[in-house]
Amino acid sequence: MKRRDFLEKAIMGTAGISLMSYTLPFAPSVKGANDKIVLALIGAGNRGTGTIISTCKINANVVIKTVCDVNDLKAAKAIAEIEKELGYKPQHATDMKAVFNDKDIDAVWISTPEHWHALATVWACQAGKDVYVEKNPTISIWEGRKMIEAAEKYKRIVQVGFQNRSAPYAFSAREYIKSGKLGQIVTVKSYNMLGGSKWNPQPDSAIPAGLNWDAWLGPAQYVPYNPNIHDMESRGGWGNYWAYSGGVLADDASHVMDLARFVLGDPGHPKSVYGWGGNYAWGSKKETPEFQSITYDFEKFTLTCDSGNATNYMKKTPNNIRMDPKLFPDWRTNATRTEIYGTEGLMYLGRHGGGWQVKGEDSVLIAEGGGVFPDPDHQKDFIESLRTRKKPNGAVEQGHLSATLVHLGNIAYRAGNKQLFFDGKSERFIGNDEANKFLKTAYRDNYRIPEKV
Ligand SMILES: NC(=O)c1ccc[n+]([C@@H]2O[C@H](COP(=O)([O-])OP(=O)(O)OC[C@H]3O[C@@H](n4cnc5c(N)ncnc54)[C@H](O)[C@@H]3O)[C@@H](O)[C@H]2O)c1
Repeated sequence: MKRRDFLEKAIMGTAGISLMSYTLPFAPSVKGANDKIVLALIGAGNRGTGTIISTCKINANVVIKTVCDVNDLKAAKAIAEIEKELGYKPQHATDMKAVFNDKDIDAVWISTPEHWHALATVWACQAGKDVYVEKNPTISIWEGRKMIEAAEKYKRIVQVGFQNRSAPYAFSAREYIKSGKLGQIVTVKSYNMLGGSKWNPQPDSAIPAGLNWDAWLGPAQYVPYNPNIHDMESRGGWGNYWAYSGGVLADDASHVMDLARFVLGDPGHPKSVYGWGGNYAWGSKKETPEFQSITYDFEKFTLTCDSGNATNYMKKTPNNIRMDPKLFPDWRTNATRTEIYGTEGLMYLGRHGGGWQVKGEDSVLIAEGGGVFPDPDHQKDFIESLRTRKKPNGAVEQGHLSATLVHLGNIAYRAGNKQLFFDGKSERFIGNDEANKFLKTAYRDNYRIPEKV
């Protein structure tokens, strides 16, 4: 079917499409530069719904054929939102395999919780689909390597939702540092100091109507439904469990460390990590820590990251500053900043459009670059990559390296607040079997990423 004809045929109301047999490998789809691009949303929470709609609004000839979600409520909400914003009604699929089997679909927009990101990306690549996948792209270091292998083998565009990599102010900060004006980099400090409160356990409960809990768990081990993990209408608390997430470090600090890596010219893996963490701020009895302090050894400089939900007076860059390139945050209480100390000056670097400023002695302003919220830049870049086959900003190779910083910090904490030495070539810890156990998680049958993708 020609893509321009698909809308009439494919916008078939809310009826679910029948599931076809799932056989691998799939033939990759081929499209010309001016063809309509057909997307499917996999994971219809607030993030996926908002960003896929925006992508269709700011790029010509891009449409959504299918909304895939295992939660009927969220799928219905997303379909209604798409109808309101874009003027047509995509169909609902309850199994992502139906999306992969659909020859009309060029690319998938994966916005599930983190434990599904890697497997869904590998399946999509095997099916010949290009991929936008949200951060944090993985829940283990091994998964990132498999995503890269799948993108390479099936020649797919795989962009990770590290949108700062498309921000013009990130490019100008990178240029400033590359020019040598900041001098030799001495140390880099990333902050992700968010607010929070005590987390309280809740008893397991019945699986809500309209949710396929087994499919939501997917590659993770089966556990009874618990309202602390999942909520039918909001994001819920899956980010507090190692089975589904890397905690707040993955959820948010991944952005600041990724941006730090980007402006520093994308260094490879660090030589070692020291990771401290704990639930001392509020005393929660949850798996992922309330606060973490991590130090990475990049040989010529160190990167530290302080991250958690323990400092309510610290705030993310306010909306008015995010949207105005002339405004900069008050760096002292900016929750998501990076400080880059060179021999010639100190660069404050924001995210969400915070821009950057370089200060010298007595806080004198030496240089600055304003910015605005970069999601649209990233969405334009993804579609451009689909049309031209250029490497996207935030390609999976860099996504994996940034995600590995998250995993290194978490593994150091889980292995007992330890310093760990990492061999970047083999992507294994040196002389530490306990830490190496965390390189890969255990998957359930039917949800395994194969060793050979
Ligand atoms: N890049 C950014 O700045 C940014 C911002 C916010 C969120 N995110 C990321 O986006 C992702 C989604 O965030 P959210 O707040 O919308 O979370 P959410 O939990 O509200 O939404 C995830 C959706 O995925 C669905 N899902 C789970 N398993 C599925 C499956 N097997 N098939 C289809 N759907 C499935 C869930 O039912 C849910 O509707 C997360 O990874 C989050 O970290 C990124």
